[in-house]
Amino acid sequence: MLLEIEDLKVYYRSKKGTVKAVDGVSLRIDRGEMVGIVGESGCGKSTLAYSIIRLVQGEVRGKILFDGVNLLELSEEKMRRIRGKEIGMVFQDPMTSLDPLEKIGDQIVETITEHENVDEETAMRRVRELLLKVGLPEDRVESYPHQLSGGQRQRVMIALAIALNPKLLIADEPTTALDVIVQERIMDILEGIKREGKSVILITHDLALASERCDRIAVMYAGWLVEMGKTSEIVKDPLHPYTKGLMDSIPDLWMKKEVKPMPGNPPDLTDPPKGCRFHPRCPLADDVCRREEPPTVNLGDRIVRCWRWANASEG
Ligand SMILES: Nc1ncnc2c1ncn2[C@@H]1O[C@H](COP(=O)(O)OP(=O)(O)OP(=O)(O)O)[C@@H](O)[C@H]1O
Ligand SMILES: [Mg+2]
Repeated sequence: MLLEIEDLKVYYRSKKGTVKAVDGVSLRIDRGEMVGIVGESGCGKSTLAYSIIRLVQGEVRGKILFDGVNLLELSEEKMRRIRGKEIGMVFQDPMTSLDPLEKIGDQIVETITEHENVDEETAMRRVRELLLKVGLPEDRVESYPHQLSGGQRQRVMIALAIALNPKLLIADEPTTALDVIVQERIMDILEGIKREGKSVILITHDLALASERCDRIAVMYAGWLVEMGKTSEIVKDPLHPYTKGLMDSIPDLWMKKEVKPMPGNPPDLTDPPKGCRFHPRCPLADDVCRREEPPTVNLGDRIVRCWRWANASEG
């Protein structure tokens, strides 16, 4: 097991009150697998990702075991060594992590020489290899970020994130705003990284994309992990009513099935609904769902947080 998150809670303080952005999430990620984290906007996907590399502004509780070490207990100095070197991150907005005034080659060289004892020439040779690996011509080392297209910039972001050969790559919406062809190429690159034995966390609101490419899928709703399992099983037979709602709201490739948009909106996380956070939108909610928080039920290699399954597994 490479990553084990146990009962993670991330709360932000805001003027409106405490935002319970991630509230009791547990999940495990193996070596060499790609896991998709999906859910509607604002459900806590980025917060979960940033808390793993400890770049989150909120208050964080729980355990994040990476290679057996609890990252939440490390000194900031030790954490800095893990960031980039052990865990690479592709941020949701590429322009926040690229310096507009510096050539991209130099930016990646800096990342390498900051962490490793290599001279600039060696580092630059590695940068050229990295660019080829992400499908960019090596002379792009001379480009400034604004001279690249969105898709090219995203490739640079991935090159930057894997420059130090991390064991885990977290990619936060790496293909949003790109056309379908470029999206597929970016996903090919991530799959190539996975095939080298690395673990990849793909964060996306696009369930269709995740179900095409990920080995397992974790579904988040309003700061909770509501379902997680093998992609094939989740797609064939979603257990949580929210997962089912998400599945029904996306068209299939042949437009054969009827697309049913999910009614309602996710709740305000400063004041989430009592009981199950999904109950106001759930077609199957009953009294217990409105009253009490559902437990997370383990069903073999599947987990689901829903009263229906809690009651079914008891009886
Ligand atoms: N720094 C912050 N301070 C206060 N609240 C925050 C902060 N960052 C995020 N939030 C809130 O936390 C919740 C989760 O946000 P997060 O960015 O993790 O969601 P997300 O699932 O990544 O959404 P998206 O799909 O839009 O990227 C939201 O309600 C958001 O408004
Ligand atoms: Mg996000």
